[in-house]
Amino acid sequence: MSSTLFRTKKVEQSIQDTEEPEHALNKSLSALDLTVFGVGVIIGTGIFVLTGTVAKNNAGPAVALAFVVAGVVCALAALCYAEFASTVPVAGSAYTFSYASLGELPAWIIGWDLVLEFALGTAVVAVGWSGYVASLLDNAGWTLPAALSGREGADGFGFDILAAALVLVLTGILVLGMKLSARVTSVVVAIKVTVVLVVVVAGAFFVKGSNYDPFVPKAQEVEAGGGLHSPLIQLMFGWAPSNFGVMGIFTAASVVFFAFIGFDVVATAAEETRNPQRDMPRGILGSLLICTTLYVAVAVVVTGMQHYSKLSVDAPLADAFKATGHPWFAGFISFGAAVGLTTVCMILLLGQTRVFFAMSRDGLLPRFFSRVHPRFRTPHRPTILLGVVIAVLAGFTSLSELAELVNIGTLFAFVVVAIGVIILRRTRPELPRAFRTPLVPLLPVVSVLASLWLMLNLPAETWVRFGVWMALGALVYFLYGRSHSRLGRDQKEAAGPPGGSTR
Ligand code: ALA
Repeated sequence: MSSTLFRTKKVEQSIQDTEEPEHALNKSLSALDLTVFGVGVIIGTGIFVLTGTVAKNNAGPAVALAFVVAGVVCALAALCYAEFASTVPVAGSAYTFSYASLGELPAWIIGWDLVLEFALGTAVVAVGWSGYVASLLDNAGWTLPAALSGREGADGFGFDILAAALVLVLTGILVLGMKLSARVTSVVVAIKVTVVLVVVVAGAFFVKGSNYDPFVPKAQEVEAGGGLHSPLIQLMFGWAPSNFGVMGIFTAASVVFFAFIGFDVVATAAEETRNPQRDMPRGILGSLLICTTLYVAVAVVVTGMQHYSKLSVDAPLADAFKATGHPWFAGFISFGAAVGLTTVCMILLLGQTRVFFAMSRDGLLPRFFSRVHPRFRTPHRPTILLGVVIAVLAGFTSLSELAELVNIGTLFAFVVVAIGVIILRRTRPELPRAFRTPLVPLLPVVSVLASLWLMLNLPAETWVRFGVWMALGALVYFLYGRSHSRLGRDQKEAAGPPGGSTR
């Protein structure tokens, strides 16, 4: 009985499924498209918004080190992702990888977990986008009514109409097809990278050495009552909850980790890639490397321009320029941020619909959602359903706690993928792997430990919320997915009378 929970989908079967015409996506992406896609989704709210918050509250100028820590954790995971993506080049990312290696229940868990990452991530970024657009509209002298601009509106009602509208427009673009969205993405990515480079190059002229003193501020105890807001690791070991110091760098890393989310989305587009075996690893590692370099540079420059205790938490990059007496730079940066966040939102939404599509194709969610549009060849049904749900979510939710929830979900997916690499090397050593993770099993083991370490540095309340979401997922699986699984049905038919093999 329990072996059915771990029934694995053959890698060959996964690839064959993508070739059934009515369930097949268009294969049109190159390595460059993937890298642009990666950079398009990776640079976003993390660097534009969270840098200021964590420098001010957790790490000071050492936030630059926090980016390095988070970048290393992601690079380790990326090496594992790249092997999986080049071995199982079908839609669905970590979900598909786990189905081929760990079995159906772990795959379901990871798919459910990715819903958390992508759907909430889309909502978080849409809200960040709306903040920048609202500030640009303010500059032009046009202010939205409070009730339509956020959660703190008049009469206790607030709906972020800009965030919701953004998600709905992007949903429409995705339904029309990958090609269009990839083209739009590349233009927007160019604008975003230009803005980041302007921050680094222009900002370097305003850096004051005294702002780096101290580079790692001394640890400060947090007032009693931190409780569930404290990192789990501090509660586990009974340490006095504190900010700054060396532990502050790790707390900051677990938050700015959000800035790296997205490279794994590149893997979700494997099925739409012309030559996934070669282009996947290039796309994933290339975009990660570009982003890490830019983040560290931005963090060093911004904390050098303004003392960390004075950084703004809403628009730190733009406000640092205002503080040095250059408001027009600030306007340019706000504009670029607003444009750039659009692609982040779109690609997270894309990743989300592709995971949902893959789960539905496997029968773990209703098969109705896995029929592609006859003309656009896109999974229009899940795209529209999820677009509407996320638009409502973006209208009503707030940023920071959701970002932490997104982080814990993503780190958990990293853990499963790294374990999957080790298992698949043992169970299917003969499969062709265009990209091989170096130093297996050592590197995946280090990747698991590094991801777990960042998870432990997230607040205890984030763990509680994550636990509730996963428990809900288990319920859905046992009430629906398990009995409707296509793999389960096929295996039952193949096994004939009861008592047959489950593999
Ligand atoms: N990495 C993306 C961001 O920073 C999700 O917004």
